[in-house]
Amino acid sequence: MRFGHFSDAAREYVITTPRTPYPWINYLGTEEYFGLISHTGGGYSFYRDARMRRLTRYRYNNVPTDVGGRYFYVNDDGDVWTPSWAPVQAELDHFEARHGLSYTVITGERNGLRIETLYLVPLGATAEIHRVRLTNTGATAKGVKLFSVLEFNLWNALDDQTNYQRNLSLAEVEVDGSTIYHKTEYRERRNHYAVHAVNAPISGYDTDRETFFGLYGGWNAPDAVVAGHCHNSIASGWSPIGAHQIDVALAPGEVRDLVFVLGYVENEPDAKWESPGVVNKAPARALLQRFSTSEQVDAAMAELRSYWDDLLSTFTVDSGDPRVDRMVNVWNPYQCMVTFNMSRSASYFETGIGRGMGFRDSNQDLLGFVHLVPDRARERILDIAATQLPDGSAYHQYQLLTKRGNHDIGSGFNDDPLWLIEGVAAYVSETGDLAILDEDVPFDNDPEDTGTLFEHLRRSFHHVLHNRGPHGLPLIGRADWNDCLNLNCFSETSGESFQTTENLAGGSAESVFIAGLFVHCAPVYAALAEAVRAPEEADGARRAAAAMSAVVLDHGWDGDWFVRAYDYFGNKVGSSECDEGKIYIEPQGFCVMAGIGVESGEAVRALDSVGKILDTDHGIMLLQPPYTTYHLELGEISTYPPGYKENGSIFCHSNPWVMIAETMVGRGDRAFAYWKKIAPTFREEISEVHRLEPYVYAQMIAGKDAPRHGEAKNSWLTGTAAWNFVAITQHILGVKPEMEGLRVQPCLPAEMTKVEVTRRCRGAQYRITVANRGEGGSPRLAVDGQPINGTLVPYGPAGSIVEITVDC
Ligand code: BGC
Repeated sequence: MRFGHFSDAAREYVITTPRTPYPWINYLGTEEYFGLISHTGGGYSFYRDARMRRLTRYRYNNVPTDVGGRYFYVNDDGDVWTPSWAPVQAELDHFEARHGLSYTVITGERNGLRIETLYLVPLGATAEIHRVRLTNTGATAKGVKLFSVLEFNLWNALDDQTNYQRNLSLAEVEVDGSTIYHKTEYRERRNHYAVHAVNAPISGYDTDRETFFGLYGGWNAPDAVVAGHCHNSIASGWSPIGAHQIDVALAPGEVRDLVFVLGYVENEPDAKWESPGVVNKAPARALLQRFSTSEQVDAAMAELRSYWDDLLSTFTVDSGDPRVDRMVNVWNPYQCMVTFNMSRSASYFETGIGRGMGFRDSNQDLLGFVHLVPDRARERILDIAATQLPDGSAYHQYQLLTKRGNHDIGSGFNDDPLWLIEGVAAYVSETGDLAILDEDVPFDNDPEDTGTLFEHLRRSFHHVLHNRGPHGLPLIGRADWNDCLNLNCFSETSGESFQTTENLAGGSAESVFIAGLFVHCAPVYAALAEAVRAPEEADGARRAAAAMSAVVLDHGWDGDWFVRAYDYFGNKVGSSECDEGKIYIEPQGFCVMAGIGVESGEAVRALDSVGKILDTDHGIMLLQPPYTTYHLELGEISTYPPGYKENGSIFCHSNPWVMIAETMVGRGDRAFAYWKKIAPTFREEISEVHRLEPYVYAQMIAGKDAPRHGEAKNSWLTGTAAWNFVAITQHILGVKPEMEGLRVQPCLPAEMTKVEVTRRCRGAQYRITVANRGEGGSPRLAVDGQPINGTLVPYGPAGSIVEITVDC
């Protein structure tokens, strides 16, 4: 069952009922100012940091789930309604929410009045626009009262929700004409304030929450709206809001636009005040001036569209199946960019006050956006590398504002350093920018202790070699990619963090997954070593990888699949010897991706076992059978009930590893079939089961052992976005930048008979036409009409157009 449809031409998802199975959200903003917005107008905004610079308030996990946002109310002669349906929930004659690329349009119509609100954050502005277009669709004149309202957050979002003895006495505002200034704490150390303004005279305002809503009223029936007028209240402590009242008269057919602006403004410390106690409004006025007419909003919208046109033209596909094309051309790269901007901070499942940027998460995210914004990828790489510790290990997280490693969580996740190699390799392959390897980068942000970026990679690689266990496999440390496999933790105290609690001394648990990741990294690491003229290092890396592959086959092969790990006591995890958790997805994907067992047959056997044991109609489960009791020796993985999260859900991040592995053994049909099971555009038809947005991936879909099998959670901010983009574009469609050239090696399903891809890379444009005749074996390529050997197309000069035809 669907709750809307894709509009491919407009690159929008059009939601046609407010009653979706869950709030379906979108993101506003591309640079510094961001907002989350649901299809019924819920959500919040922040400047750069969702915790420290929160502009508007939002209460998570509420009843109903999604209440609080930027709302408009109508009082039409006593009939009170909201064009976004929520929060009043009065029935609408027409409802539509269109989520586009960094903008949303919500339209509601009732009793002959149509209100269409465009929400966007213009490029280059620290503000969001809400353009409200009112149309009298009836045959008689209309006079209505329109109210805007949003609740200001007292900047620090954690404090705002916890420190009431202080923050209920803090709020301060100013009102000047149609502009409301939120200036809490501006009197002391803050140099920033927020404005909420409209480009028209107002008939009233409120800034005190209780005055506007009433103490006993709620979002569904604010006192002021019901009464038909605001009270011109000035907040003093308690909770500040920004509400305007505008009386609108419309002749039949008449259309009127109102432009509301919510903005973030900073002053220099010595230019904070206009006069004692009165904020310097000059920068706010300049900001509002830029968006004071509807034409200016149109221009900002056009700029935003061309920004996305340009980004999305980097990679395009015409596969003959719109569900593939809209995913690859629009929604997957869009999600990758949102993930780049947000990391794991702010979604409807992440409160924006929790984690910092993950070391491994950020490196993997990079794989999905490096082709779109390579300069920003470069900056990100150098920031991440600067948090690496001198021994090659890494802080598990760092804070975006300070760019420092996060001491609370510390280090010890032994896969982390290797992801830096994967990220840098992707960047260098995309751009050819070898100079980045020579950049001088600090360790642990200490300017006295620096090394080249390549030296950082070297320490990453050797950190694994220096930390091996009894079988010669890499030590897992606190955990590897699977944050919940805590093999040295042994936590018996409830509430204790599995990630930070002191591990048992002498922990020698080993990870086959890290071994696979290590072998996978080795060839690109060796190529980078050659690029910095360190041939011995390159040879050493290749030898180390060969030795590690042998160790995996000796000690990490279980007979029908790869073992997951060895625990603290040297027992196997993820083996047929185990009662539960017999097989895990991660080593099957990564060991095959690394090429282990491809020649000798183990790879195909492992993938067949995945197909037999882990596959479901909704994707590949992380493990089987799930743990039914708490296992002290395994940690958090056994916390979750069977079928959820790491305990046997379909953890979508790791599914593309199996897809890529399937292409490694030439099975494009299987790879594509797996992709279709989790790709949101293919799940759109079962939205009532999936429940989350049909345009972005979710981190998790409940596995077959969960009562709610097929139900997704944690949409938007997940490594799933980047890895699925890699799987579908680089391995199934098969267009992958490598150091020496563009690899064009499609591994297509039979149903895709003709595919056209365009790819911009290093300044040249590649036009690739694939004829899939199902011949198997190696594809045959011609470049500009000339057949070539193999599948590596040398990079063309910048500005050139390279025509490639492929027969396979
Ligand atoms: C974390 C990842 C981790 C994954 C699997 C995600 O929530 O952000 O770092 O690899 O879970 O445990």
